[in-house]
Amino acid sequence: MKKYGVNDLRRMYLEFFESKGHLAMKSFSLVPHNDNSLLLINAGMAPLKPYFTGQEIPPRRRVTTCQKCIRTGDIENVGKTARHLTFFEMLGNFSFGDYFKEDAIKNAWGFLTEELKLPKEQLYITIYNDDDEAHDLWRKITDMPEERILRLGEKDNFWQMGETGPCGPCSEIHIDRGAEHACNHPDGCALGVCDCDRWLEIWNLVFMQYNRDENGVMTPLPRPSIDTGMGLERITSVMQNVNSNYDTDLIYPLIEKVEEISGKQYDKGADGFPFRVIADHARSCTFLICDGVLPSNEGRGYVLRRILRRAVRLGKSLGIEGPFLYQFSAKVADMMGEDYPELLD
Ligand code: ALA
Repeated sequence: MKKYGVNDLRRMYLEFFESKGHLAMKSFSLVPHNDNSLLLINAGMAPLKPYFTGQEIPPRRRVTTCQKCIRTGDIENVGKTARHLTFFEMLGNFSFGDYFKEDAIKNAWGFLTEELKLPKEQLYITIYNDDDEAHDLWRKITDMPEERILRLGEKDNFWQMGETGPCGPCSEIHIDRGAEHACNHPDGCALGVCDCDRWLEIWNLVFMQYNRDENGVMTPLPRPSIDTGMGLERITSVMQNVNSNYDTDLIYPLIEKVEEISGKQYDKGADGFPFRVIADHARSCTFLICDGVLPSNEGRGYVLRRILRRAVRLGKSLGIEGPFLYQFSAKVADMMGEDYPELLD
């Protein structure tokens, strides 16, 4: 498998979908526009909601983005697992009433197995319980054996963001990172059973069919649509053949910066927890402030304040004295300014 840098992967993805007729749009701000249901953008589809519901006309019926996202629901796991992050980039391709399941599956499979040349025998698929159509398409389009297509319930394979908005059944692509990553789950380490780092979900294909309102009522969207999301950090860790998001060229230089400032050496095991948290939180803080969020006691300002304080507290635990977090902003801008020029501005 060829090793790619993160900037190559971001561009390869967007160019692949441009070659399939998609319009590549710039990442939207982390601060939602005209949307009170959300504090911060937490998925590639979030800023595109009005195009799914038909409230606004999209610039093209096929769009692709690499979207800045913040998720803090799992903040306690950040730095503990290989994959949790508060800031991440989500690669996505979207169809607003244009193509549906068949082309979504075909394109995703094409990108992973032909462009990136991932070994097919390590890939697994999950589908929503009764989604026979998705099952049959996976069987028809790929040479995926029956036993590597799993049917899971609403918790895993029905996607919706928060309580309201566009939603639908989904199909996820996972990669088996090898038996050496297996856990000791009492029912055995297996996809759909445990939640360990062996089974890495790399791409979620959502078959958007409904809009859920404030009362939980689902009505069909004007036309079935597609929303997909692949974590750039995860696919980078797979392509760079490293065990964790934190070991990729997207984050590791920030860990080195923690080493430099603290004078301590990073440990990839449990002792490296503060290094990983600071590296992750430095990215969130830099991008949030860049998009105009400032620390405060409420709303999105409070989210930032909480992330910031956590990073500072862990810095203290490494013996770092005085303000230090600001030193990371220039590093983040250095690393990512080419794709996010707003950081340089
Ligand atoms: N919107 C889907 C997700 O965030 C793709 O997983």
